[in-house]
Order: sequence, then C-alpha cells, then structure tokens
Amino acid sequence: MTTMENLELTVEERAANLTPEELVQLVGLVDYDADADPFPVTGWDAIVFVVGNATQTAHYYQSAWGMELVAYSGPENGNRDHKSFVLKSGSIRFVINGAVDPDSELVEHHRKHGDGVSDIALEVPDVDKCIEQARRAGATVLREPQDVTDEHGTVRIGAIATYGDTRHTLVDRSRYTGPYLPGYVAAQSKWVKRDGEPKRLFQALDHIVGNVELGRMDEWVTFYNKVMGFVNMAEFIGDDIATDYSALMSKVVANGNHRVKFPLNEPAVAKKKSQIDEYLEFYRGAGAQHLAVATGDIIASVDALRANGVQFLSTPDSYYQDPELRARIGKVRVPIEELQRRGILVDRDEDGYLLQIFTAPLGDRPTVFFELIERHGSLGFGKGNFKALFEAIEREQDRRGNL
Ligand SMILES: [Fe+2]
Repeated sequence: MTTMENLELTVEERAANLTPEELVQLVGLVDYDADADPFPVTGWDAIVFVVGNATQTAHYYQSAWGMELVAYSGPENGNRDHKSFVLKSGSIRFVINGAVDPDSELVEHHRKHGDGVSDIALEVPDVDKCIEQARRAGATVLREPQDVTDEHGTVRIGAIATYGDTRHTLVDRSRYTGPYLPGYVAAQSKWVKRDGEPKRLFQALDHIVGNVELGRMDEWVTFYNKVMGFVNMAEFIGDDIATDYSALMSKVVANGNHRVKFPLNEPAVAKKKSQIDEYLEFYRGAGAQHLAVATGDIIASVDALRANGVQFLSTPDSYYQDPELRARIGKVRVPIEELQRRGILVDRDEDGYLLQIFTAPLGDRPTVFFELIERHGSLGFGKGNFKALFEAIEREQDRRGNL
C-alpha cells in the first residue's frame, strides 16, 4: 500500500496545486526507494512535439485543450532555426516545435514522421548517474551531461535514444527558476477562455504508448528494464487484444514511483492490417502513439473538448447494452447513460475502475492521438475495452481505406 506521507510532489505538481492524494488517484503514484534505483526518474519533464506549423498548433492546444502558454523561443529572441511554444496544463508541459529555417533539422523530421513526439523528456535528480547507467547498459547516449546556464540559473541536461527517432532528454532543473530552459522567455496566452469553461481540462500525464516494429516489443521492454530500471506492470498478450481483423501485443513498464508509464505495442499477425501497422507505415517507423492525460472529471472535460471541436472515437451503443459489460463494471460514479451519451468507456479490475475515451488522430496522418483517463483505484489501462476500442478504430481505418 502507498504511504501518502512519503510521497514527494514535483515543483510542477505543487505549482498546479495538486495534492499527494490527488496524484495517487489521478495517475496511481506510489512510494518507492529511489536510493536503490540505478536510474532514478522523478517524473515527466516535457513532451516535445515536432509539427508542421507550431504557431497554429500552439493555438490549438490553448483554444481546444485549455492549455496555458508559459514560455517561447523563436527568431524574436535569437532562435533563428525554429519556433518553440511551451504550454502547460496542471503538471504537464508540452513543447511545440516547428521549423522557421528551411534548412532546420526539424524539416526532415517532419517530412518523415509528420506531426509527432520527438522527445519524451524526463525529470531526474542526477543526470550524470543516469547517463552513466545507460551507457553501461548499452544505450545510445545522444547528449553527454552538460550544464546550460542563463540569468535564471543552471539546468543539467543529457539525452539517450529510445525507439525509432524518439529520445529521452534527462533534465535536472533543481538549480533553475526560469520559465522552461535557457534560451526561452516567459510568455502568456492571448487566448481567453469561454465563460464557464473548466480551469483545466486535464491535470497530469498518465502514460505514453510506444508503437514498435513487429517482434521488437520484448527488446524495448528489456531496454526499459535494464537501462532505466523500469518495472513491468500489467501485461497483455496476443488474444487479449484482438478482433477478427486486427491484433497487437502490449506490455507495460513504469518507473519506480509509477508517474511515468510506457505501454509498448507491437503488431500481431491478423487477417488484415492492424492499427499498429497503420501507425508504423504512416509514422515511418516506431514512435509515440497516444498520450493519456489524467482528469478528475472526464464528463466535464469531454463536454468542454467537444464544444471546442475536438473529435473523439465513437463507441457503438451495443457496447453499453452488453449485459456482460454491465455485470463486469458494476457501479460507477455516474449513470451509464451519461457515459454512453459521450462515448466514454469503462473498465474494472480487482483494484477499482477507470473511465477513458480516445480522440481521433490529432494531425493529418493516422498516427498520434490522445486518451482522457479518470482513474478510481484501477491501475490498469483499459484491457477490457481494447476489443471495443479496436472495433471503433477499425471502423475509422476502414473509412480511410487502410484496413
Ligand atoms: Fe492508453
């Protein structure tokens, strides 16, 4: 059991007025012994996106997802290569990068992958210890530990490679008080929220799913175990996540305190092309598939997001009428009709239940999307919903002619 009094919150979580109790509920935060961890990770630092038009994408995350602009780097303050917008919601930080210079490296990244996640940056207390451990365990070090300094202090940064062209930048910002990193200036949203819109539509990041190539899931599970000291969580294999046409295998790893959770998917052989195959084809390789954001009120969040034009996958009415589902999920905090009206899925395991819903792909390619998740004790990922979810995804895939 989690002992609440030992749970230490990050600076971002405290700034977002989150309590340990809320973090336990929202993302399943647990206490653990960081001293025995070869690669201690405190939590998420930032999710860094490369997009085709950062100016407009930053507007979208403010206007549709209720995020707040907090920092900026671009030609106006000496960055002639690209524009970079830093947005926050609760304890989550997104960084949206788009090329200004046609010769920027970001242009090639975007040509190959489309809009996507280039960097899942993690906050660590000791960058050097992590990089040393990663090197010893055979990881590719992309950036040696380095101090970066400006008038707000010093950040220590290193980076290692993970699946595809994705990286984990490791950040120790304990000696830094600036709005993000040196090179960024504080910025403020010009977007004004509608009256009555919730203050935040999501409070924290729960998990990020990585899609990897056929036959390589276990390799990446081992990478997170051996290189980063992550532990295995729930495990789903083969038939668990299969429809007649589409199948995948998935295993989940988490850091010691469970703030950072990475389900890793690989396609499984099925009659038709699976959604993982479709992702791998259009992303041109392995990459981050979906980001699950945690909310304490999924009903209010979904209503606000829909009003803002965000599109969700639809769930068939038959899902809610299935007597097996009704028997399995038991009583949840809202009438099932409220969930049905919004297409919110529900799953239960021995620890409790969760409510979840998935968006349509965010960009032009059928690759990255979001999940909203409201946990009530369950530390799962919606295993019981995978079949219902995949059937919904396949209907969309079929409409695009990719099934
Ligand atoms: Fe998920």
